[in-house]
Amino acid sequence: MSINIPRGTQDILPGEVETWQLIEDAAKRLCRLYQYQEIRTPIFEHTELFSRGVGDSTDIVQKEMYTFEDRGGRSITLRPEGTAAVVRAFVEKKMFGNPDQPVKLYYMGPMFRYERPQAGRFRQFVQFGVEALGSNDPAIDAEVISLAMNLYGELGLKKLKLVLNSLGDPESRKAHRDALVSHFKPRIGEFCGDCQNRLEKNPLRILDCKKDRDHELMKTAPSIIEYLNEGSRDYFEKVKEYLGQLGISFEVDPKLVRGLDYYNHTAFEIMSDAEGFGAITTLCGGGRYNGLAEEIGGPETPGIGFAMSIERFIAALEAEKVSLPVEKKIDCYLVSLGDRAKDYTVGLLQELRKLGVSAERDYLGRKLKAQFKAADRLNARFVAVLGEDELDKGVINLKNMETGDQEEVELASFVEKFREQQG
Ligand code: HAM
Repeated sequence: MSINIPRGTQDILPGEVETWQLIEDAAKRLCRLYQYQEIRTPIFEHTELFSRGVGDSTDIVQKEMYTFEDRGGRSITLRPEGTAAVVRAFVEKKMFGNPDQPVKLYYMGPMFRYERPQAGRFRQFVQFGVEALGSNDPAIDAEVISLAMNLYGELGLKKLKLVLNSLGDPESRKAHRDALVSHFKPRIGEFCGDCQNRLEKNPLRILDCKKDRDHELMKTAPSIIEYLNEGSRDYFEKVKEYLGQLGISFEVDPKLVRGLDYYNHTAFEIMSDAEGFGAITTLCGGGRYNGLAEEIGGPETPGIGFAMSIERFIAALEAEKVSLPVEKKIDCYLVSLGDRAKDYTVGLLQELRKLGVSAERDYLGRKLKAQFKAADRLNARFVAVLGEDELDKGVINLKNMETGDQEEVELASFVEKFREQQG
């Protein structure tokens, strides 16, 4: 019996992977411009990092984590997201002591969530994310959002919608929390078991419930915006002002709560407005998480960031019918005829590659015509033909496939000459 790929995962094959690489390269280039540096953290962490960081009452922690006991009896979890681990590293490696503050980091790598697979939702997916730690300046909220918007824009996405909310500071959140409890408590019996548990622990999570989302009390629930104190309101105003200054339009949605517990103040999502995009339209999510470093044992540190999956990025490109300029070309294909010539191309190929020329030869003993076809499929800019006669004369035939020009080149100077020809 053959073995299949696990549900919710995918193989990314040649022909597809080039698009991934283009997105990854563009993300890295932007991070350089914005001065975010790469950080790589482990794929697995102690489970406690996520139960404390992401939050015990979130769907991620309650239902979606790949958790197992390792052979030493420790509870280990495959990371479902990147923020908690980045903040752990920031605290553990004492990056709060770096002379350059805020510390601006980015990461790219696989995350794991045991979710019900559907279009745009995988069990292993790749997130690109940034985190800026150590600044409470609303300008950095705007910077983080603009980085995400610019990345999408640079690769050709147009149908984007930025949705923004403020979850306020701890004082505002507490006032809102109390209001939510009073709102839901009298009729909590009509809600699912999860919501009943969340009522006292974390009523904000009720607003995020997928089962009860159509209950009438959801529509009339008190909105955080009404409970923002002056400081939180001012902060939010400033973020909006900076976004305006950057020419980034947005919509405020007081119902945007996000699925992770660590957020306060700014919360945002970037959605695709493209027709034909699946039911899940969120491309990117992020926000501010000022208490998170303390939650995992570090000093008080403000932070803000976002994460987006490459899978949904590609789905949005497809929905908007944007095709990225994937260059598929090689510099030179070596066609050879006869055993001696074939043997000779082994070394020649190596010399070309050493000089930075992308080159290929036949490994299947194909006839001349089939070798030319192979060169065509690879989009070779030049084809160099070597037969026994040429070899005896010490020459090789070089054909420029774009212009059709052919010339005989001395074998001894071929590699050098080739490089010159290429310009
Ligand atoms: P999140 O909203 O859970 O936030 O995920 C962020 C993004 O990851 C989503 O907008 C989506 O692009 C992608 N994503 C999440 N789950 C899946 C899935 N099952 N399949 C495909 N893509 C998925 C976070 O993870 C936070 N750590 C973001 C953040 C960073 N906040 C502050 N800093």
